Amino acid sequence: MEKREELYRGKAKSVFATSDEDRLILYFRNDTSMKDGEKIEQLERKGEINNRFNAFIMQKLEEAGIPTQFDTLLSTNESVVKKLKMIPLECVIRNYAAGGLVRRLEAKEGTKLTPPVFELFLKNDKLHDPVINESIAVAFGWATQDQLNRMRELTFHVNDILTKLFDKAGLLLVDFKLEFGLYHGEIVLGDEFSPDGSRLWDKETRKKLDKDRFRQGLGGVVEGYIEVAQRLGVPL
Ligand code: C5P
Repeated sequence: MEKREELYRGKAKSVFATSDEDRLILYFRNDTSMKDGEKIEQLERKGEINNRFNAFIMQKLEEAGIPTQFDTLLSTNESVVKKLKMIPLECVIRNYAAGGLVRRLEAKEGTKLTPPVFELFLKNDKLHDPVINESIAVAFGWATQDQLNRMRELTFHVNDILTKLFDKAGLLLVDFKLEFGLYHGEIVLGDEFSPDGSRLWDKETRKKLDKDRFRQGLGGVVEGYIEVAQRLGVPL
C-alpha cells in the first residue's frame, strides 16, 4: 500500500489517501491546540505517544467487540485505518463533572455522575462545537435516529470497557469524546482515543494526566501522557 496525497489537515492529525481506496493513513502530529485552534503549540513526542496510545486502546476495544476504524500501526506517527464517511458529531460521556459541564452548570469539579452523562456536540470550530441534541441532529440530517441510538449504545459500551481498563492502572476515566463514521453502512468508531480527547486522573491524588495540563498551563503535558501510557502497559 502506497501513501498518497493529504486529504485533510485537522488540528492535531493529518489524513492521507492511499493506493487502497478503503484505507487511509492517520498522521499524528505534535501540534496541540485549544480554544478551537486559537492557540497551537508543538509538544515534542506527543504525536508518537498518541499514535501508540490510540493503537493500544483501539485494539482493546476491538477485542471487546467494538467495531473500530483502526487497522495497523504503520510507523512512529502513522496508523492505517479504514476509510469512513465521518458523521460531524462528537459524543461525550462523563463519569465525573469537569470542563465544559462545570462551566455551564457551575457543578463542582470531580462530582460523580450516576448514571454517566451523555452529550452531543456539533463539530464546528467557527461555532465552537455547540452542544446539540438528537432531535436537532436528526432534523438537520447529520445522523438518523437509528445511527444516533447505535452511537450512544457504543459510547456507553466503550465507557464500560475503558473504565475497567483505566481503573486497573490506578486511573479515573473522568470523561472522553468519541467520533463515529460509516463503513459500508455500519456505524464504526473513528478518529482517536488519546489523552488529547479524554480526562484521566490519578485515582488516589486526582492529579490530571491529560490535555487539561496544556489547557490549564500546568506543564508536564507529554510527561502526563507518558505516565498514563506506561501504567496501562502501552509499548512506547
Ligand atoms: O470541554 P468538555 O468538558 O466538553 O470536554 C469533554 C471531553 O471531550 C474532554 O475529555 C475533552 O478532552 C473532549 N473533547 C474533545 N474535543 C472537543 C471537545 C471536547 O476531545 N472538541
